[in-house]
Amino acid sequence: MSKNLSDKLNEYLANQQVMYIKLHNLHWYVKGRGFFTLHAKLEDLYDQTAKIIDDVAERLLALGGSPVANLKKALELTSVKEREDAPISSDETIKSLISDVDYWIRDTKEIVELAEENNDGATADQFNGYLTEYQKLMWMLKSYME
Ligand SMILES: [Fe+2]
Repeated sequence: MSKNLSDKLNEYLANQQVMYIKLHNLHWYVKGRGFFTLHAKLEDLYDQTAKIIDDVAERLLALGGSPVANLKKALELTSVKEREDAPISSDETIKSLISDVDYWIRDTKEIVELAEENNDGATADQFNGYLTEYQKLMWMLKSYME
């Protein structure tokens, strides 16, 4: 595996590790009329994120890489902006999710392109799977906002 791809996969992993906590933050602090829907949806999302974290780490290992497994390192690598431990309205929760999911989509596309440049179709397939899920989620978040 090229260093480029290995570094990018570790950044992706760090982003998902931080998102795992951020999704819990929103799950706990969301308020307002969307509470029951959003509280439950955020639980689905952090469960999905936990699975992605494990799958990305194990893909790195399968390719001979070393997955980041250290929160201090993850915080150095991540581009995710964390939020305070404070209440957040349902609308602001959706806006925050849309902004993060938009980032996930761009980040995932970059990995697919990089994997294809490295003739690594299996990694490209794995991330195309995430891309399909994130694009579906984006449609749902925008529909909820209407
Ligand atoms: Fe919970």
